[in-house]
Amino acid sequence: MRIYLDHNATTPLHATVVDRMSAVLREDFGNPSSVHHFGQRTKALIDDARSAVAALLGADPSEVVFTSGGTEADNFAIRGVAEATEAAGRRHVIATGIEHEAVINTLKALGRRGFRTTLLPVDQSGVVSPDALRAAITDDTSIVSVMHANNEVGTIQPIAALAAIAHAKGAVFHTDAVQSAGKIPVQVKALGVDLLSLSAHKMNGPKGTGALWMRRGLRLVPLMTGGRHERGRRAGTENVAGIVGCGVAATLSAEKMVAEGARLAALRDRLERDVVRLVPGTAVNGGESARVPNTTNISFERVEAESLLIALDLEGIAVSTGSACSSGTLEPSHVLKAMGFPAHRTQNSIRFSLGMGSTDADVDRVLEVLPRVVEKLRTLSRTPVRA
Ligand SMILES: Cc1ncc(COP(=O)(O)O)c(C=O)c1O
Repeated sequence: MRIYLDHNATTPLHATVVDRMSAVLREDFGNPSSVHHFGQRTKALIDDARSAVAALLGADPSEVVFTSGGTEADNFAIRGVAEATEAAGRRHVIATGIEHEAVINTLKALGRRGFRTTLLPVDQSGVVSPDALRAAITDDTSIVSVMHANNEVGTIQPIAALAAIAHAKGAVFHTDAVQSAGKIPVQVKALGVDLLSLSAHKMNGPKGTGALWMRRGLRLVPLMTGGRHERGRRAGTENVAGIVGCGVAATLSAEKMVAEGARLAALRDRLERDVVRLVPGTAVNGGESARVPNTTNISFERVEAESLLIALDLEGIAVSTGSACSSGTLEPSHVLKAMGFPAHRTQNSIRFSLGMGSTDADVDRVLEVLPRVVEKLRTLSRTPVRA
């Protein structure tokens, strides 16, 4: 029996998503830009998916631009605004130290082009304080990008308060909602944002598809030059099956969000409580803050996270040491580092992220295996347990 507890890296496809995508791949090959029947069929499929994504966000369909996923949506938002407002003298971009690489490395790239960039600090709660943004923002700030929920620890950021601060200075506000969309309510009006990224493969949809929601009237410089697809906002013939999958995933997650959120929160809370109870020398990272219901990040003293990940994998349990991009290397988690944890804690933490297929039996099995595996790794490392 294999247990998958890495849903923040990616999720299995919902059976309905597979069925709808398969039907499109088999039957609907038309180019959505074509005027004839074949094209109009696929155009209608894309329109339906756009309405579904808009409904998930409480937005207007015309404001949804389909992209190749969360990374492209983040790039489009940040680069698109930075380039559009550069001529007006706004050459400062703000994000936080706990953003995904899609945002952090976009700021680095803008920095190399002469933009001033600021990464806001967070404390050990894993939450950005509005005061930190107040202190950093200036009259030349172009865009502020703060993620809605963090991918490693699950903490939820005070987006509405942060967006209000950005707007008071005339800056645009973007949120990366890749880890919150489909898990908790994400309503663009309540959040008060101008731009929001989401990704289908984090909500039981396909990889390589996502969307950027952009408030009507906002002007962004497109990333790519080409045809006038997506109303001139994203050039390139549409990934019709992927977009259909994204729409179905959005509808399904909206329907099951409340019940599934409560189910996963109960499973996650039991897992977290009993791991801390059964395994000495453990601590939950960001555990006191509001979090998405499926995520827990736990540090194990005197255990190297990569070794624990491999040992659990050998027992058939898939977890992660943090973001998928940094696992496979021994890099400490930049998120835990930004939260101010000491070096050992940035390297001994494991993320358990639950999802659609997670069950009570999965949690039971982890609780059966984990104390033994941790004990064995500690015995091998032969250093005394830190007090
Ligand atoms: C917070 C966050 N932003 C962006 C991304 C990138 O999304 P995609 O994989 O669709 O490019 C991820 C994926 O791990 C993520 O967790």
